[in-house]
Amino acid sequence: MVRLSERICYVGVNDTDKVLFEGLWPLPVGVSYNSYIVADEKIALIDTVECGFEEEFLTNVREAVDGRSIDYLVVNHMEPDHSSLISYMLQEYPGLQIIANAKTVPMLKGYHNVPEERVLVIGEGDSVSLGNCTLRFYMTPMVHWPETMVTFLEEEGTLFSGDAFGTFGTIDDEVVGPDGTFDQYREEMMRYYACIVGKYGTPVQTALKKLSGLEIKRICSTHGPVWEKEIDPVIALYDKMSRYEVEKGVCIVYASMYGNTAAAADALAMELEELGVPYAIHDLAGNNAGELGISGALRDVFKYDTIVVGAPTYNNGIFPPAETFMKALQARLIKGRRFYAFGSYTWAGASVRLLNEMAASLNFELLGDGLSFPQAYTREKVDMKAVAQLLK
Ligand SMILES: Cc1cc2nc3c(=O)[nH]c(=O)nc-3n(C[C@H](O)[C@H](O)[C@H](O)COP(=O)(O)O)c2cc1C
Ligand SMILES: [Fe+2]
Ligand SMILES: [Fe+2]
Repeated sequence: MVRLSERICYVGVNDTDKVLFEGLWPLPVGVSYNSYIVADEKIALIDTVECGFEEEFLTNVREAVDGRSIDYLVVNHMEPDHSSLISYMLQEYPGLQIIANAKTVPMLKGYHNVPEERVLVIGEGDSVSLGNCTLRFYMTPMVHWPETMVTFLEEEGTLFSGDAFGTFGTIDDEVVGPDGTFDQYREEMMRYYACIVGKYGTPVQTALKKLSGLEIKRICSTHGPVWEKEIDPVIALYDKMSRYEVEKGVCIVYASMYGNTAAAADALAMELEELGVPYAIHDLAGNNAGELGISGALRDVFKYDTIVVGAPTYNNGIFPPAETFMKALQARLIKGRRFYAFGSYTWAGASVRLLNEMAASLNFELLGDGLSFPQAYTREKVDMKAVAQLLK
């Protein structure tokens, strides 16, 4: 338990064991599931944590409430990393009333068999008084589930934002990040956004506009540090990413079976290096794939204005890891990017044409026809110097 103010305590946990978040996204620096107690004349618990942390969570909560009972559990978001322990908490605190919006009610029933009578249903702009302070609720649908909402503790300017403004990475004992914390978490915040929230740029923009009228002095999200000192850069990053705004640079993403497409990718990276063009390079296949896999590539898609994809032809199609990447771009409605494709084949090339078709479906600007080359990579056959000139 960590005290954030007279009323607010952090009661969340760090997870350093989970390998893949949502079964998909690597966690090299872990993740935290944040939960908060607001204690006034009445006590509210804001969200819970992932299952497996029952003991640690309950110990934190007990320390924060100091023998008192809990009146309300505010459910901002039903994804199980925050809602898993709802049944458990209802057992521990039988008098607990759940505060949630109408879209949450059937989810509470379906996941935890919570009867409707147990839920105080609130809507946009409604508030609940805890005595000397007020919790006000704002709906933020599709950030990143339909029932998502945020809770604002008005007297302390504290926004319990759910997954919004969240980041991968465990947090240290202070919980509140000192100056410089944003820089430390920036890459993981971008990767979290790109992987988890990336599809929902428009709903994030709607939510940001709605919240822009609030005087926010503290952001308590469900993942990562509590923000007090660096609120502006955190909001600015979410704003920028949800507008799909990028810097000049190239994100090279490739997958290769026998190394020929890989050699072409490396050659391109070398040429870009020589030209001084900012770039990132991600191998999606085989033993050389980076520890972040596709999640690192998606992060950098939100960083740079040019996407270059390399994939050999595979059964008249795109070598599957690269096709999965293209589908991930489609799923995230990525827009406003420049695109180039390359790849090796042996008897009838198809991957480059198909990659271009997928890119065209996203209205990307194609920087030429791409480079489909037969069999081995050689410098003579594959002119990456010329490609780098196209991309710069
Ligand atoms: C299972 C499998 C399916 C393939 N399908 C095709 C194909 O449909 N058309 C083609 O021209 N080459 C096909 N190839 C050949 C590869 O495209 C070729 O070996 C290429 O050079 C591999 O590039 P890489 O070294 O980057 O992995 C296939 C190879 C494998 C192993
Ligand atoms: Fe979530
Ligand atoms: Fe979450």
